Amino acid sequence: MFIVNLLLGIIALLGHLALWTAASNRLHATALPRYWVKVARAVIYTITFLAPLLFLQNSVRDAGWGFQNRVLFSFSLPQIYLGLCWISAVRTIALWLGRQLWTANPLLLESNHTEIVNIAHYLKQKPAESRKAILLSRIPGNQIYELTTNVKILRLPRLPEELDGLSITHFSDLHLTGQLSRKFYEEIIHRANQFQSDLVMITGDLVDHPKCISWLPETLGKLRAQYGVYYIFGNHERRMQNEHVLQLDDQLQQLGLVSLTGHWMEVNFKGSQLILAGNARPWFVACPDMESCPPRKPNAGPLRILLSHSPDQFAWANSYDFDLLLSGHTHGGQIRFPVIGPVVVPSWYGTKFASGVFYQEPTLMHVSRGIAGTTPLRINCRPELSQLVLRTLSAQ
Ligand SMILES: [Fe+2]
Repeated sequence: MFIVNLLLGIIALLGHLALWTAASNRLHATALPRYWVKVARAVIYTITFLAPLLFLQNSVRDAGWGFQNRVLFSFSLPQIYLGLCWISAVRTIALWLGRQLWTANPLLLESNHTEIVNIAHYLKQKPAESRKAILLSRIPGNQIYELTTNVKILRLPRLPEELDGLSITHFSDLHLTGQLSRKFYEEIIHRANQFQSDLVMITGDLVDHPKCISWLPETLGKLRAQYGVYYIFGNHERRMQNEHVLQLDDQLQQLGLVSLTGHWMEVNFKGSQLILAGNARPWFVACPDMESCPPRKPNAGPLRILLSHSPDQFAWANSYDFDLLLSGHTHGGQIRFPVIGPVVVPSWYGTKFASGVFYQEPTLMHVSRGIAGTTPLRINCRPELSQLVLRTLSAQ
C-alpha cells in the first residue's frame, strides 16, 4: 500500500506543479498592471511551494497519502484538490503525448538550415554588463551567447507565383535592458543584415530600459532591407512610461524603421501588393482595421502578413485570412528540459506554441525563440535569428 500511495503522491505532485505552472503561464499572457502580476505571481509561487509541504505533513501524520477508505469518501477540501491534481497530471501527460505525435507539416517547413555562433567567442569577451548577467552567464550550459541562425523555407499554400522567393528576416525579443552590452546587439544586427532579405520584421520587446534608446542608431538603426524594416511593440514596451514609449517610437521611425503596431499598410513588392499588419494585443489595444483592407483573393493576393508579439493572436490572424503570422514573446520557454521540453511559456495556450512553425488553414505561424530576455538564462534554448524564404507549393 505504501508504494501505491507514494506513486499516487508523485502523480499528484506532478499535477499540482502542472496546475500552477499553467496558472502562471496564463497570468503572464494577460495585460494586467505590473503590480497585480507581481502580487498574483507571489500567490502562485507560495501555493506552489507550500501546498506539497502541507500535504506531506498530513501524510506523515496519517501515515499515507490519504488514499485509505476512511478518507476516500470524506470529500474534504484537500481530498478534492488531490483529485484535481490527479486529473491535471493525466491531462498534462495526454497533452505531452499528443505533441510528440504531432509535427509541423513537412510540406510547409521544407528545410531548416541552422548555424550556431558563440557571440562571446566572436567578440573575444563576454558581453555581460550587469552583475546578474555576469553571474548567470557562468552557469554551465547557459546558452545566452550561442546565437542560432536559421534559413527556413516555408511553403505557403496560397502564395501567388510572383511572390515566390520572397525573403523575410525575422527576430524578436531583443530586450535592450543594459544587462548585455551594446556590442552584443551590434553583432546580432550585423548578422541580420548578412541575410540580405527583402524585408526585416521584428516582433516586439525591443527596449526595456530608456537608457538603451541611445543605443538604437548603432543597433536597430543599422538594419537594412530593400522593402523595409518593420516592427511592433511588446509587453515590455508597455512597462515603460508613456513618454519613453513615444520617444522610442519616434527614434525608431527617424532611423527609417516602420511601425506596424495597431495598423496595416500596403507595400509594393516587384509589382505585387503585400498587406503588412501589426497586432500587439493585449498590451497595446489598438488593432488593425482589417475590414478596410483590400480583400484577400485566393492565389491572387494581396498576401497578408501579420506581426503579433504573442502567438495568442493566432486565432485572430486566422479569422482575418492572414497567410503568415510572425510572433515571439515566449522566448521558446528559455529552459527546455530533456524529454519534457519547455515548461514556463507566457501564453494562453501554455507550451503549445513555445517556438517553431504551426499551421491552421490559411495561416502559417512562425514563433521565434527571440534574442535575449530580462533574465539572461537559456538552457537548451538558444537565441534565434531566422531568415524565412517563402515558396509556393509547386516551386522547385
Ligand atoms: Fe520578451
